[in-house]
Amino acid sequence: MTTVEKEIEALRDAIRHHNHRYYVLDDPEISDAEYDRLFRRLLDLEQQHPELATPDSPTQKVGAGPIETFSEVRHRTPMLSLENTFSDQDIRDFDARIKRFLMDESPIEYTVEPKIDGLAVELVYEKGALKVASTRGDGFVGENVTPNIKTILAIPLTLTNKKDGSPLPDLLEVRGEVYIELEPFETLNRERVDKGLPPFANPRNAAAGSLRQLDPRVTAKRPLNMFCYGVGTMDGPPCETHYERMLQLQKWGLRINRPYIRICETPSEVTDYCHHLEEIRPRFPYEIDGAVIKVNRLELQARLGEKSRSPRWSMAYKFKASQETTTLIKIDVQVGRTGALTPVAHLEPVEVAGVLVRRATLHNQEEIEKKDIREGDRVIIQRAGDVIPEVVKSIPSMRTGREKKFVMPSSCPVCGSDVVRKGGEVVLRCPNPNCPAQVKGSFRHFVSKGAMNIDGLGEKILIQLIEKDLIREEADLYTLTLDDLLKLDKIKEKSAGNLLAAIEKSKKATLARFIYALGIRHVGEFVAATLAKQFGGIERLGHATEEDLLAIDGIGPQIAESIITFFDDPRNKNRLNRLMQADIELEAPSLPPASPVAGKTFVITGALSSLTRSEAKEIIAGQGGRVASSVGSVVDYLVVGNSPGSKLTKAQDLGIPILNEDAFLALLNADKELGDSGIEGIGELASVKSAPAP
Ligand code: IVH
Repeated sequence: MTTVEKEIEALRDAIRHHNHRYYVLDDPEISDAEYDRLFRRLLDLEQQHPELATPDSPTQKVGAGPIETFSEVRHRTPMLSLENTFSDQDIRDFDARIKRFLMDESPIEYTVEPKIDGLAVELVYEKGALKVASTRGDGFVGENVTPNIKTILAIPLTLTNKKDGSPLPDLLEVRGEVYIELEPFETLNRERVDKGLPPFANPRNAAAGSLRQLDPRVTAKRPLNMFCYGVGTMDGPPCETHYERMLQLQKWGLRINRPYIRICETPSEVTDYCHHLEEIRPRFPYEIDGAVIKVNRLELQARLGEKSRSPRWSMAYKFKASQETTTLIKIDVQVGRTGALTPVAHLEPVEVAGVLVRRATLHNQEEIEKKDIREGDRVIIQRAGDVIPEVVKSIPSMRTGREKKFVMPSSCPVCGSDVVRKGGEVVLRCPNPNCPAQVKGSFRHFVSKGAMNIDGLGEKILIQLIEKDLIREEADLYTLTLDDLLKLDKIKEKSAGNLLAAIEKSKKATLARFIYALGIRHVGEFVAATLAKQFGGIERLGHATEEDLLAIDGIGPQIAESIITFFDDPRNKNRLNRLMQADIELEAPSLPPASPVAGKTFVITGALSSLTRSEAKEIIAGQGGRVASSVGSVVDYLVVGNSPGSKLTKAQDLGIPILNEDAFLALLNADKELGDSGIEGIGELASVKSAPAP
């Protein structure tokens, strides 16, 4: 080996080691700057000696530097598209055509699965190692997006045959759809709008834009996911059906949409399942735009072959369009509980994918200008799953000349205060915390289902209560009397009594709901539950320092800052005090009380000899405790393994109890002796998603 080769090898080993410390063990040994130096040195050497570059070098993984352009990849087997059908009759015709072609009237078995609305990619694995990944392109030649694909967590860099020992094929071309789920898509767009960047039109564009980044570090930050749905060229092991092949892919570690792949014996079972998928479509956490029907037997697929652009053995049943054209009557400006001004389009009512749509969000002034949307325009609107409908674009060719351009107001349409734009934000805000719109918004949030859940306190009653000055802040709800309520229009004694009972009932709330109800910016239901679990009481949360908050998994600087600002504000302190005086009884999260681990926060440093770090995390979580990544004052124990890092000194400084591995195991086992360790099933719980039942 030459000196350069030796240095490259040593750098790769070191970087792999530090990657493992950082990404897997969560316990880096060197600073980011030192890591960057090693990485840059390796990149330089590989660039100077391209003959020494290898696909398994850490430079090819997450975090690799940008590339100039995409190179081309020719697909060994063309990536075809699918013929579309829209009716049950089309499906029966498809079945009849297949039987005619095969000259055999025997029943055909089909598989039916959701058609994911993302972009098609091909992954090429050689002897189980991911070598090349490409987009579909024109079906024959696509773009080489390997470094970007490697950043997607759902895609394995190497296949495994540990489950059944079946030999891995020398060559395997896997095809599938890369996509972004709806919720992360919304978050991504909100972040873009906040930064003044144009939002993506839909999750598909967001996925395509994210995958076609020249800098894989950008792709790595995007929430991309993938379902595999087929193979191109593959040598062995043989399978009889498409379904078996999918299961084979799953065993090798590839992600398939298994719960929704259904085997159908007759054309009417096929149509039934297509309708079922269309019905549950709004409940999928990602966009599906149809169902894909495939002949299940691979031997029949081979006999059927393909036409010029699409296979004879498969067909896409497309769902009803989720874009429609309508007239935008006028644009209104709504003021939310945080004071944000949002333009909203009032539309000529139109049905989009089965739902009557009257209003659609327009995000902000820049969006309106970019899409050139005017009052009176004909516009295209769309609904993506459960997401709020939005205006995609105007159709300028249909203008009559009477359309009016829209400008955001310079004063709040509700209270008249001059609107402000905070540094770096695109949104305009009403700065008046007493603005009736903000007050109403806060009340709506406070009484909503996920918060204090006060039944029967709808918008109309809230508005009257505010206008009659019966309520100014949340605590006022708890001093309302029957007489107060009877002053309102259209409220009789019985419903007033029910409402009072509902208000009384809401006094018993969980801590998580209460935290959420406070309406702290960036604190949604999930974060609120995390905070409740961590702090166990509202006072402890109120006293948390930034460091305490940042030590919690899932809490970043933005949330931490928002929590601190909230509790620092004297108005909020007063609001809270008054609420606490209303005898609200907060129930802290229930934790298995038998375990001494329950409710405690651990930090682990150094390597443990009898457990991996993730096993330790699972056991702690199973007993109701949690693991933080850095030492702060909310940490209850530091667990120290071999060669501990700087966390040990910090914990000693803060006087945090330190456990060696034996003491830690004894603490964990104290619970086992009491019976249920609560460990089983954690993995399953953690992976539960809100997908509808198949
Ligand atoms: S099978 C020969 N299965 O739909 C093509 N495609 O219009 C075999 N798609 O380019 C494709 N979900 O990108 C298949 N479950 C699924 C799919 C799926 C989405 C996409 C794919 C393809 C397009 C065809």
